[in-house]
Formats: sequence, C-alpha cells, structure tokens
Amino acid sequence: MALERTFSIIKPDATRRNLTGAVTKKLEDAGLRVVASRRIQMTEDQAKKFYEVHAERPFYNDLVSFMSSGPVVVQVLEGEDAIAKNREVMGATNPKDAAPGTIRAEYAESIDANSVHGSDSAENAQIEIAQFFTEDQIVG
Ligand code: TYD
Repeated sequence: MALERTFSIIKPDATRRNLTGAVTKKLEDAGLRVVASRRIQMTEDQAKKFYEVHAERPFYNDLVSFMSSGPVVVQVLEGEDAIAKNREVMGATNPKDAAPGTIRAEYAESIDANSVHGSDSAENAQIEIAQFFTEDQIVG
C-alpha cells in the first residue's frame, strides 16, 4: 500500500472547545502523520470555494457561515491508505451514526458542527491540499 496524503480540517466547534490536541491525537493514534498544519480564520469566500460542490444543498449557506465563524486548523495528513483511514477515524457525518471511538462520536456537537473535515477521494485530497498549502510547506 502506497503512502497517501489527505486533507483535514479541525472545524470551529472543535477549536472553540480547545480540542485541537485531542482531535490530532485521534488522527495520530490511527497511524496518520501531520505533515503540514496551520491555524487560520477562513473567510466566507474561502469557505464558499471549499464547499462549492455543496452549493445547491439546503445546508450550504449555514455551512459556509459555520466554517468562517471561528478559527480552524488545516492539516495535511500522511500515511498508508491515509484517505480511507482518516474517513474511518472521523466517523459518519452525523455523530448519531458515528461508530464509538471515532472523532465525531466523541466530539461532534451535531451534523453541522461535526468537528472535522476529511477528503473523500484522492482527487479531492489533491485539490483541497493545493487550496491551502504549497508543496514546500509540506514536510513528510
Ligand atoms: P458531506 O461531504 O456530506 O460530509 P463529510 O463531512 O462527512 O464528508 O458534507 C459536508 C459537510 O456539510 C458536513 O461535514 C457537515 C455539513 N452538512 C450539514 O450541515 N447538513 C447535512 O445534512 C449534511 C449532509 C452535511
């Protein structure tokens, strides 16, 4: 299995509750390595662009406001099978459906304030990483 990179965001509900370390520990315990990390305040325009695929969904406007409502931590994670591994440790979108021990089961407040984002495909991982990091900012 080849080394993969994926893109992760620790969302405003988690930074607000000072859970950056707790969430990162879950990622690391799952075998993922943080090879780039930055705490930022997303602008509304950045959030709009990031979630463009959901532009027609009823929750889009609320999602954009939420993602720009406070600091987030954008990260590049590296590891074997990193995309699937990250999705697994994140848990289901709705914390009510998330498996015990997953980040969302333990920390998410609701389906919208669900603590983490993780790329869902290799193609999206590449696009999302490039939106926030240049190659020289990623140190594997
Ligand atoms: P989605 O890509 O379906 O989920 P995931 O983050 O697990 O890949 O949705 C993106 C985000 O949109 C999700 O993390 C939270 C928000 N969202 C809602 O607020 N309400 C909803 O009904 C859904 C499906 C998503």
